[in-house]
Amino acid sequence: MMIDRLVYRSHAVGILPEIALDRIFQSSVPNNARSNITGSLGYCGQSYIQLLEGPASAIDELVGVLLADPRHTGLRILLRGFSERRLLPSWSMARVDLAKITPEVETLLDNEDGLGLIALMSTLAHEGMTR
Ligand SMILES: Cc1cc2nc3c(=O)[nH]c(=O)nc-3n(C[C@H](O)[C@H](O)[C@H](O)COP(=O)(O)O)c2cc1C
Repeated sequence: MMIDRLVYRSHAVGILPEIALDRIFQSSVPNNARSNITGSLGYCGQSYIQLLEGPASAIDELVGVLLADPRHTGLRILLRGFSERRLLPSWSMARVDLAKITPEVETLLDNEDGLGLIALMSTLAHEGMTR
């Protein structure tokens, strides 16, 4: 079955992303499991970065929800495509730790390098760089 895959970045509003993420994961993991969505989410400074994979209709619906969430703003989809194979089939939402590689992440964000961010957000989850 074909799935859509996208990566976006957004800017955290209000409380620190590190703290907001606990709540976000409490909703994301069960909701994504129900919607057949997988992916990974992390933050770098005040930026959230999320990789999402799933049926196009489910991804569209989630993006609608995300655009209305006041905990972030400036959501910008850097790359969207489709695939026959998920990069992260076994995570409803993996929490990846981007803190140790801040300069690399900042460069990818500055360059709006969606492909680079997809590779990074997938690799870190597989390497267990999660928290
Ligand atoms: C950066 C960010 C990423 C999020 N990712 C997801 C997600 O992957 N899945 C999800 O269901 N909600 C996600 N949310 C939360 C949704 O915006 C929304 O609050 C939630 O889906 C509402 O569901 P609930 O009523 O079950 O909590 C995210 C929010 C933020 C700020």
